[in-house]
Formats: sequence, C-alpha cells, structure tokens
Amino acid sequence: MKVGIIGCGLIGSEIASFLDNNKNFELIGLTDIDKNKSFELIKNLKNSKPKLMGINEIIKKSDLIVESAAKNAVRGILSNENLDKKNKKLLIMSTSGIISSLRLLKEIKNCEILLPSGAIVGLDGIKSVSEKIESLTLTTTKPVQGLEDAPYIIKNKINIKNIKNKKVIFEGTLIDAINEFPQNINVAATLFLASKSNNLRLKIIADPKTRFNTHEIQAEGDFGVIKTTAINFPSKNPKTSYLAVLSAIQTIRNIESNIKIGN
Ligand SMILES: NC(=O)c1ccc[n+]([C@@H]2O[C@H](COP(=O)([O-])OP(=O)(O)OC[C@H]3O[C@@H](n4cnc5c(N)ncnc54)[C@H](O)[C@@H]3O)[C@@H](O)[C@H]2O)c1
Repeated sequence: MKVGIIGCGLIGSEIASFLDNNKNFELIGLTDIDKNKSFELIKNLKNSKPKLMGINEIIKKSDLIVESAAKNAVRGILSNENLDKKNKKLLIMSTSGIISSLRLLKEIKNCEILLPSGAIVGLDGIKSVSEKIESLTLTTTKPVQGLEDAPYIIKNKINIKNIKNKKVIFEGTLIDAINEFPQNINVAATLFLASKSNNLRLKIIADPKTRFNTHEIQAEGDFGVIKTTAINFPSKNPKTSYLAVLSAIQTIRNIESNIKIGN
C-alpha cells in the first residue's frame, strides 16, 4: 500500500517511522508547510525513500493519505478532485477541521475515511448507542500551559497563569468551542462524529497541578451510563497526547489485519 503524509510534525514523524519498519506499506511522499520538517523526516528514515511532493500529488499517487497537519488543511484535502476514488483511504488526525466541512465529508462515497479515536477511549460503545444518547458530556482537564494560547483565554483576558487550583474555564457546545480552543478540540470533534449527538456539552478545566491531558466522557440514555477516562501522558509534542500517536498507528495496523476487534 502506497502511503503519503501531509504534516511532518510529531504524529507524521511517528507514523513515518512505523511505516519505515513495515513491509506492507511503502511511504512514497510527504509534505509540510515547513520544508525543513519534510527534509529532516526524509533524512531520518532508514528504509523508505519518500519524495517531497505537493498535496495534490500525494493524494493522486497514494492509496493511504495521512493528514497529520492542522485543522486548516482538512477542507482542501476533502475537496481534492483526486481523493474520492475506490481503494483510497484517508486518515484524518485534525478532526476539528471536519466540522466546518461536514457536507464535503458526506459527499465522499468511495474513499474510506479513517478517524482514529485519538486521545479518548470508549468510541466503540458511543457508536453502538449513538441513536439513543440523551445526554453526553466531555470534560477535558489540561495543564495551564496547554490552554494559555487559546483565543478564548486571550479574548476574555483570563489570567490563567495565576490560577491556584483546578478551575472550569469554559462550558458550552462544540460549535461554541471550535474557534475558541482550536488546538484543544479534536477529541470533542471526534466524539461528536462518533455520537452524532447535537447534545454534546463540553467542559474545559485548567489545572495548575497537572502535567496530563485528561478526557472524561459521560453518555446517558436508555442503554445505561457510559463513563470513560483517559489520563494522557504528553508525547514529545506537549500539546499532543502519546495515546493519540499510538491510536493513529493502530488505525493503520487495523488496515492490514483481518481480525477487527471493537466496532
Ligand atoms: N484526533 C486527536 O485526538 C488528535 C490528538 C492530537 C493531535 N491531533 C491533531 O493532529 C495534528 C498533528 O498533530 P502533531 O502533534 O503532529 O502536531 P505538530 O505541530 O507536531 O505537527 C504538525 C505539522 O504540520 C505542519 N502543517 C501545519 N499546517 C499545515 C498545512 N496546511 N499543510 C501541511 N503541513 C502543515 C506543521 O508545520 C507541523 O510540522 C494537529 O492538527 C493536532 O491538533 C489530533
């Protein structure tokens, strides 16, 4: 399977390293808005010889396209004329970028879209009960440093560095949060896409005493109650949970496995 990577930061590099050691995949191309990142990644690979390509060429030539760039890259990928072909797969990490392109997503009929569960757990159960959810909340607790650049914090002049104890700094819907916390909203977007629930409520908590990103999901309905918690250690990129990296790699492993566990 020929693979192309869009975005050569932490996740793109970890995926490239996995592909580099797996004979079932051939990494043929990669791209990044920062060319140095692309060249550095190419230099660090042992077995693969990917070419520096444009996004269009990557989409045209790859069987599996990996988006590990940013929210703003997603629309262009989804609307690319070469994407919607049989036998193509697109793995999207920046799931928050899908929310403003839901119509484009629905129009894709042939390309298989893979959305890893990322930094949350329990999406298998959430998908099973998706039509029966009466209430759904995602509570995200982050270290102060993980939130201080958020437009919501800057706009509302929240003096987040002076917080001494855990504090709820935001409560609202995904749509309310998407432009206010653009770096922190992928898990909420993935949960929304899995649950199809317009009742999703988000709570964002700043905790000056933690190093970890914790995501708690609570769903209720006539099926019972689903509660999950992922306490995420950071990866080499402090904004990205290590579980999200592992989840992306597992999604690629699933492609080659004939045994699919979970729904
Ligand atoms: N789904 C999840 O649970 C989850 C979890 C963690 C991160 N993410 C998202 O995955 C993406 C990658 O995460 P990361 O930790 O590797 O980030 P990163 O910052 O380490 O790497 C992103 C790379 O993409 C490049 N880039 C940015 N915009 C681009 C564009 N338009 N075209 C091409 N390259 C572009 C950057 O230069 C950078 O090298 C981010 O959008 C992040 O928010 C999702």
